[in-house]
Amino acid sequence: MTIKIAVIGVGTIAQEHIKAYQANPGAEVVALCDIDIERVKQRGEQFGVARVTGDRAEILSDSEIDAVSICVPNNKHAEIAEDALRAGKNVLLEKPMSVSVAEAEALVKATKETGKSLQIGYVRRYAPNALVAKRFLDEDEFGKIYAARTTILRNAGNPGGWFGDKDVAGGGPLIDLGVHVVDLCWYLMGQPKAVSVSGASFNPIGARDNIQHLSRYRASSETRVNNVEDYATAQIRFEGGAILNVDVSYSLHTRNETAVQLFGEKGGVEIEPALHMVTERHDTVLHIEPQIDSLGFDFTVGFANEIEHFLSVCRGEIAADAPAEHGLEMARMLTAIYESASTGSEVKITH
Ligand SMILES: NC(=O)c1ccc[n+]([C@@H]2O[C@H](COP(=O)([O-])OP(=O)(O)OC[C@H]3O[C@@H](n4cnc5c(N)ncnc54)[C@H](O)[C@@H]3O)[C@@H](O)[C@H]2O)c1
Repeated sequence: MTIKIAVIGVGTIAQEHIKAYQANPGAEVVALCDIDIERVKQRGEQFGVARVTGDRAEILSDSEIDAVSICVPNNKHAEIAEDALRAGKNVLLEKPMSVSVAEAEALVKATKETGKSLQIGYVRRYAPNALVAKRFLDEDEFGKIYAARTTILRNAGNPGGWFGDKDVAGGGPLIDLGVHVVDLCWYLMGQPKAVSVSGASFNPIGARDNIQHLSRYRASSETRVNNVEDYATAQIRFEGGAILNVDVSYSLHTRNETAVQLFGEKGGVEIEPALHMVTERHDTVLHIEPQIDSLGFDFTVGFANEIEHFLSVCRGEIAADAPAEHGLEMARMLTAIYESASTGSEVKITH
């Protein structure tokens, strides 16, 4: 059974979705949609997709299309995803699922009312390093996980365009980068309920467009607003007492750094920058290096696995494992961190 796919929003990251679908025998990309007509025509030529449009209603009303990948700026995620679900499509929605708790609640409601699936594009969950860590955690190799820490620090990593505009992006590196690694920790910790957060954010440096000879990820749009945080740091407390520390930046005077680490009673596991396990046996500390093709985050394999998972969901074989409920818990955490950063006080999370 071939799942017929349309991709809505065909800027930078959409290319990874299209490539992964086109490499998968279970999918056919039948249409591309973008409000930028020149861009959607160009992508149509680039990927050999004949049907291109600027009108998403045309896509959503076509009963031949089974599912959509949504790769538009963050403030349009919830609106377009809800339209797609209500039009009877399964949805793969890029992260962050929403820019507010209210939008996230609306998406949970829409999946329940339509019976259609929403899968959030948390691609890091599907990379082999995370899959191996999950298997070991599921087998209780590390005991109860009581703490985690994660960072994505970039010294000059503001992607520009709409990413710097708070009204469109919903925030800066916390909602853009932090969402990936907070999710990865939270998912691997067993998806505990968040009870409170304490956060801070700073923006003394700005977008650093002056920096030369250093490449970075770039959005497709040219907007030059920059009113998001350069750097955010937070501590999230969970039911049962576990804690997660997160540090993320677009602009910071630092070496670039990515880390995802979980600490348990019997052992610890580091997923990024490279899969690594630490434990103790017979009064000796052991470092364990799994032998897999890529110990770091393998972007291409991650996308291939994410797309294969979504196609299995579309075929009705499995339930989405990053459903709207996971996006709602994330929206609660991130919204509370931004609130705490602006008030300077701890924020309690209610469910
Ligand atoms: N999973 C990842 O690793 C990853 C990486 C980068 C970006 N993303 C996410 O993907 C999404 C897109 O990011 P990007 O970097 O590709 O941005 P981009 O600016 O390159 O592309 C966005 C595209 O959406 C189009 N668009 C805007 N409004 C639209 C609408 N109403 N209908 C149809 N098209 C519309 C724009 O014209 C543009 O072509 C964001 O939510 C971002 O957070 C995820």
